[in-house]
Amino acid sequence: MLVLFRKTPILGALLAQVVALPVVAAVTAPLSTAVDRLPLIALALLLQGLIAAGICRVLGLPRWWLLIAFLFPLAMGSALLIGNLPAWPFGLAFLLLALVFSNTTRGRIPLYLTNAETVSVLKDLMKDRGATRVLDLGCGLGGVVRALDGEGRHARGVENAPAVYLAARLLSTLTGKGQIRRGDLWKTDVSREDLVYAFLSPAPMATLWQKLSTEMKPGSLFVSNSFAVPDVDPDEIWELSDGRKTRLFLYPIGAKG
Ligand SMILES: C[S@@+](CC[C@H](N)C(=O)[O-])C[C@H]1O[C@@H](n2cnc3c(N)ncnc32)[C@H](O)[C@@H]1O
Repeated sequence: MLVLFRKTPILGALLAQVVALPVVAAVTAPLSTAVDRLPLIALALLLQGLIAAGICRVLGLPRWWLLIAFLFPLAMGSALLIGNLPAWPFGLAFLLLALVFSNTTRGRIPLYLTNAETVSVLKDLMKDRGATRVLDLGCGLGGVVRALDGEGRHARGVENAPAVYLAARLLSTLTGKGQIRRGDLWKTDVSREDLVYAFLSPAPMATLWQKLSTEMKPGSLFVSNSFAVPDVDPDEIWELSDGRKTRLFLYPIGAKG
């Protein structure tokens, strides 16, 4: 059961709020005649957040979920207290978030982007290896794909978040650079690439390596930005001098794994 919550933290976070609710009601109900309405609501929201965060901790959820669990009731409570807010901005915000992050709850791979310094290192790496085909798995807005395409290199990207894909596709069409496909990285053919690049999260790395080490051609290279494959020694780790101190993990295919 705990594994389920660690795999799908949103379920654990939901359970935490549901379990906390009757506890908070039981604690605050007897105070309702003695304490004023606003301080009582504030106390209830605070308790709800604290208990929910505690349950998330017991369930072993990552630390940022504890913060979300704590802040969620406070945010909900504040919105309700302010009252008379128009509904459409919330609907619009929800739609936008769903179009950008709908895949994050399942795959646990959020959107953040590779910086220019890393792209330039990847370009040099491809030049040094004489690599001509590159694939960015989970290409986000496609910046890496567009930057690496050209001068004899053919760059592709695959992305499954609808709005992110559309933006990447549009930018690629407008600039005439790279090829962006809407799809699931797990179902993407990687067998013809000289280099596969990924900037994902710790969650998928072990399974991703199983796919890449069996499907990529011998002599090709997998480069992971920031997230190492557990229990597999990379051939090299490059630490860049950018602000983020980006680390690139290099896994040659065929040599290891
Ligand atoms: C951290 S971002 C990296 C974006 C881009 N590669 C870069 O480095 O700038 C990871 C991207 O992977 C996408 N993603 C997550 N799961 C995916 C899947 N199963 N198939 C395709 N893309 C996925 C996310 O939507 C997100 O845009």
